[in-house]
Amino acid sequence: MVSTAESDPRPRAETLRASIAFHNDRYHRDDDPEISDADFDALTRELRALEEQHPELAVDTSPTQQVGAPIAEQFSAVEHLQPMMSLDNAFGWDELQQWDQRNRKLLGPEAQLSYVVELKIDGLAMSIVYRKGFYQRAATRGDGRVGEDVSSNVSTIAAVPKELTTTTPPDIMEVRGEVYMPRRAFEELNERRAAAGEPQFANPRNSAAGSLRQKDSRVTASRELSFWSYQLGALEGGPSFTKHSDTLEFLSECGLPVNPEVRVLASLDEVFARCNYWQEHRHDLPYDIDGIVIKLDDLRQRGELGSTSKAPRWAIAYKLPPEERTTLLRDIQV
Ligand code: IVH
Repeated sequence: MVSTAESDPRPRAETLRASIAFHNDRYHRDDDPEISDADFDALTRELRALEEQHPELAVDTSPTQQVGAPIAEQFSAVEHLQPMMSLDNAFGWDELQQWDQRNRKLLGPEAQLSYVVELKIDGLAMSIVYRKGFYQRAATRGDGRVGEDVSSNVSTIAAVPKELTTTTPPDIMEVRGEVYMPRRAFEELNERRAAAGEPQFANPRNSAAGSLRQKDSRVTASRELSFWSYQLGALEGGPSFTKHSDTLEFLSECGLPVNPEVRVLASLDEVFARCNYWQEHRHDLPYDIDGIVIKLDDLRQRGELGSTSKAPRWAIAYKLPPEERTTLLRDIQV
């Protein structure tokens, strides 16, 4: 086959990679994105499609194979007890079904699947470690292997307990969750910043990230941040579990905030109905979500499915379409 310059996919792949790496840094490292999440997703999808058609392009250094961004110099590095992975995305019913069918194929025809449906909180991923029941450290995701030590800043968040409420705390317990800023707190903060002539934050997610990644934890303490826990990470000297829903129950018993909208559902139809429900009702929540996370409940099945280099196969993020905003044009002057 003759390869013409026009059919050569490499220049486009290189452009996409450079662009994704640039916007990734703006989002994760600088907390100051230049393009919308939907536009960023579109770039990633185009690159992924190109790499699927031309597997020789899917090098390990491609942003499709990486998580987050390297850590900033102002924080010390923390190696995570377990890698902090990302999530693959599903856009619509077809992609949700494809995810489900792939799982069923891998698990075999006898497998009974049960799904835990959670909100995808639009904030900053956090790993918090408790040692013998006491808050020890908190770290951002960073590149997934090494994160930024933000322990003193996270300790100012009231929703994060400094001591677990269980009488039999594990030796080591790692909690994964999302630090976020409620919409009202974000709007008030921006009003104060505007009045003081300071630059405003683009959205609650950036304002949470900017508030958390501060050298002076008094600044973080002055911002209204909160936390939802959604995943049990490393655990030593604690109870053993067979279901994700039981781990969430345990986190709640330990005094960690678990979102009340978590549901355990028995069919994909119900999961999809729940996704559609949140598409309509996302604004009823006092904080931003950017999707719905669907996880298999059975931890043995999860072990069987395992992960790719970037994301677990047992979970998927159902992305909600970007929000449509209407602007009222009051006047045009020529
Ligand atoms: S689970 C290995 N559950 O979404 C799976 N993530 O795009 C770990 N996120 O890095 C993630 N809400 O920051 C999970 N209920 C939820 C979530 C959630 C928000 C974020 C998290 C993660 C990102 C992946």
